Amino acid sequence: MQHSFTHSFISALLACAAVTTACVLPTDTLSNNITSGFGILIQNPEYPAIHDQYLMLEAAGGGDMHWFVGGQPPVGVSAFNLVLSEGVLEQGDIHAVIDGEYDPVANTTKIFMTERTDYLAYFTPVYACDPDNDEVQVILAFVGREDFGDGGLICVRPSYDNSYEFRYSPPGNTAVDPGQCIPVTMVVVPAAEQSTYPTSGASPSTTSSAAQSTASATTTTGTTFATSTTSSSSTATATLQHKPVVGPYLTSAIGTTPLPYTDETANGFAFVGCAPEASNADDGPARTLTGSLLADDAMTDGECVAFCASEGYTYAGTEYTRECWCGNSVAPGREPQTTLASLDNCNYPCGGNASQFCGGNSWLSLYQACTPGAACVNAVFT
Ligand SMILES: *[C@@H]1O[C@H](CO)[C@@H](O)[C@H](O)[C@H]1NC(C)=O
Ligand SMILES: *[C@@H]1O[C@H](CO)[C@@H](O)[C@H](O)[C@H]1NC(C)=O
Ligand SMILES: *[C@@H]1O[C@H](CO)[C@@H](O)[C@H](O)[C@H]1NC(C)=O
Repeated sequence: MQHSFTHSFISALLACAAVTTACVLPTDTLSNNITSGFGILIQNPEYPAIHDQYLMLEAAGGGDMHWFVGGQPPVGVSAFNLVLSEGVLEQGDIHAVIDGEYDPVANTTKIFMTERTDYLAYFTPVYACDPDNDEVQVILAFVGREDFGDGGLICVRPSYDNSYEFRYSPPGNTAVDPGQCIPVTMVVVPAAEQSTYPTSGASPSTTSSAAQSTASATTTTGTTFATSTTSSSSTATATLQHKPVVGPYLTSAIGTTPLPYTDETANGFAFVGCAPEASNADDGPARTLTGSLLADDAMTDGECVAFCASEGYTYAGTEYTRECWCGNSVAPGREPQTTLASLDNCNYPCGGNASQFCGGNSWLSLYQACTPGAACVNAVFT
């Protein structure tokens, strides 16, 4: 299954490439470990705004790095210290995962980097033809998401400042929304070669000979990429080593009964909705609730409400299964919506009670103290 996926990926890639593409792909299998630092060049010739731009990393709090490409001004900074460890993209302590910010319209999920345990994104290096100049390049073919297994693809969608952010589309996704999921090719650019990338436009001779292509590939292979000696298959295969799943499980909150919040009205707090943190808003880096923070692997909504109340705050918000943020106001513009769909972002189970929801990835399950003497009712979602 994995084998045929990779094969069809290459076929699709070749089909997408310009008709002049005829580079000869080496037949050796690339290792799933790339231990010397590299950056990632994004390609999709049909989208000049992202084609031949580097993957950029934007700090998103807690050590997380969110993925962007393009933008005016550019969002994030490029990085040439990425490594691939058994198919997992890493930068220091953080690694690429897929979870959070689920988009129920396009049926896509965020891919980003964090040091926390979460569903890993697996890639495998394979040879491909550069659509610009028909030379052999090494790309990271997407293999799959840890919990879903093989298949799916990595794509981008428009974000702020004309940038694009990265998404995962699961296998068999029929929720057609092409503008919200633009497929991208991720090219491995060794740190030492960053000055020579991106290649600008087609090479003078787009009918490069097999000999030239092979020579170029050999150089690339010899200088940068370890190759496996155990296989001569022309379609590289990844050796997925699925790690134990202990991260938050992504579930759709829509349609669940009862609604995905905890009734804390008996404790004097009403649920008001799912509020964005900075990385899901476009108004600066400040926290949505700026008071005390309590982190606890056994967090529950009740614990958070009790903590914030004991500190004298009027808002309490749980986030990422284990965080509790307090405040006396919600950052302007970040008030939660009252649509059912808006609740879908707050779909992480609480660390201390998996029957409750404790926010999401940079989303707060938000509770507000009720006015003494007045009715204490949760918001209505339609
Ligand atoms: C890849 O690296 C891991 C450790 O990071 C090692 O255990 C594994 O044997 C390596 N695999 C190959 C094919 O080199
Ligand atoms: C949405 O994605 C899920 C996997 O996350 C998949 O099971 C489901 O079939 C998809 N829905 C559509 C409409 O494609
Ligand atoms: C866990 O949360 C659910 C839903 O709020 C609640 O009914 C249940 O009593 C909680 N479990 C414990 C052990 O507190």
